[in-house]
Amino acid sequence: MASRSCLYVVLLLLAFQSTVIKATVPVVPPQCRPVPAGTLARIEFLANLVIGVAEFFLRSSNGTGIEDIAPGLVQGPVPIGATLATLDNATRAAVRQFGLALVGNLRAIVNVTSLRAPLPRPQLNFTAGVFANILNLSALTPPFNVYGGQTQFFLVAEPLTSSLIQYYLAQVIPSIAGIPQQQLVTGIGLNAAAQHGYFRTRLNAIVNITVPPYTITVASFTNTTATAVNLLGLCGVKNEGLIVPLPLGAENRTTTNVIPGDVNSLSPRRTERETLRILHGTGNATRPGGIFPSGPNGTLYRLVIVPLRLS
Ligand SMILES: *[C@@H]1O[C@H](CO)[C@@H](O)[C@H](O)[C@H]1NC(C)=O
Ligand SMILES: *[C@@H]1O[C@H](CO)[C@@H](O)[C@H](O)[C@H]1NC(C)=O
Ligand SMILES: *[C@@H]1O[C@H](CO)[C@@H](O)[C@H](O)[C@H]1NC(C)=O
Ligand SMILES: *[C@@H]1O[C@H](CO)[C@@H](O)[C@H](O)[C@H]1NC(C)=O
Ligand SMILES: *[C@@H]1O[C@H](CO)[C@@H](O)[C@H](O)[C@H]1NC(C)=O
Ligand SMILES: *[C@@H]1O[C@H](CO)[C@@H](O)[C@H](O)[C@H]1NC(C)=O
Ligand SMILES: *[C@@H]1O[C@H](CO)[C@@H](O)[C@H](O)[C@H]1NC(C)=O
Ligand SMILES: *[C@@H]1O[C@H](CO)[C@@H](O)[C@H](O)[C@H]1NC(C)=O
Ligand SMILES: *[C@@H]1O[C@H](CO)[C@@H](O)[C@H](O)[C@H]1NC(C)=O
Ligand SMILES: *[C@@H]1O[C@H](CO)[C@@H](O)[C@H](O)[C@H]1NC(C)=O
Repeated sequence: MASRSCLYVVLLLLAFQSTVIKATVPVVPPQCRPVPAGTLARIEFLANLVIGVAEFFLRSSNGTGIEDIAPGLVQGPVPIGATLATLDNATRAAVRQFGLALVGNLRAIVNVTSLRAPLPRPQLNFTAGVFANILNLSALTPPFNVYGGQTQFFLVAEPLTSSLIQYYLAQVIPSIAGIPQQQLVTGIGLNAAAQHGYFRTRLNAIVNITVPPYTITVASFTNTTATAVNLLGLCGVKNEGLIVPLPLGAENRTTTNVIPGDVNSLSPRRTERETLRILHGTGNATRPGGIFPSGPNGTLYRLVIVPLRLS
């Protein structure tokens, strides 16, 4: 009797569990599924993103690169197209700090994992037109120039920090094996989220102001850039403007959207393929371009492009 009712309870639980799973796990479309890869390959992929953002922040704020801060930490072709951005002193110091922090993050990657310095630096293209293309701002007159004004800089730095580092880590942290490795990537992800919050906060303070020399408000710009990034990513609305319709606002109760999130205001997540589609600016993970004209270095990117080579 006892074992029979036990079996019944187990069956009931199984039935209940499978309904719960069916109800809460939506089918993920193929283009939104992660690449099956191990911890080291994912951290190696991350290193490319951290190198990219670090070089951009250091070069645009201070005119220096990673090699000037940490000789021998990275090696590869010199990034092209970067120039000093027009920033006020306090902002310049903050952006430089973010760049330096990312150099520290790279040092930690070398310390914690079996990846060794010099980390390979992929070709990077920081030409103003690259950002304008990715963010659907290339039709503007005069041409949108990330280096030409502080607000223009914020409008680029904001999606860069979230789409490249924060959202990728929100996706992969649960699949990272090993406590030191988990602490490493969590620390990098939370630091990136804070950097993202800084840029959102600076933009939100001027949300209804037009961005010189244009007649477009900051709110409208953030809607355009978020929409552009989402269209490249091909996996739904993850980047969001600073003023949104109620269904995108926290708890469906506010149109103020300083910090974007999913329906429960959790950090959005992006897989490596989504990230590649955005940083390539092509909407195609296997067709490099944009900020990474030759694609990132490493095992994971090779896994993404291998099926192409076979066919
Ligand atoms: C870059 O940073 C160094 C160290 O603080 C400083 O001496 C130099 O003036 C900075 N360069 C620019 C262009 O801000
Ligand atoms: C900004 O920094 C530059 C170079 O360090 C300095 O010459 C200038 O006086 C500073 N401007 C302000 C407003 O503090
Ligand atoms: C390297 O990692 C060890 C722990 O594994 C830590 O004690 C040490 O402070 C780290 N060194 C640097 C330079 O990050
Ligand atoms: C990394 O990529 C760059 C081009 O983006 C290439 O020159 C370099 O050889 C690559 N390094 C490795 C180790 O694959
Ligand atoms: C860098 O981007 C600019 C602007 O899109 C483009 O004209 C140039 O060919 C790119 N350079 C490389 C090496 O990809
Ligand atoms: C910006 O404008 C919206 C209406 O378009 C308004 O609700 C909001 O309070 C304004 N925000 C600021 C910071 O002025
Ligand atoms: C790009 O921006 C223009 C406005 O400049 C808009 O009409 C168009 O729909 C946008 N395209 C995409 C793909 O977001
Ligand atoms: C952009 O604004 C439109 C119109 O308010 C809205 O429907 C859309 O959800 C916004 N998109 C993003 C990504 O913020
Ligand atoms: C907010 O609206 C969305 C649909 O737009 C819904 O899925 C979600 O449950 C709503 N959230 C709350 C807290 O009402
Ligand atoms: C992506 O780019 C690759 C290489 O250029 C190409 O073979 C493939 O057809 C493209 N995929 C799509 C969906 O456009």
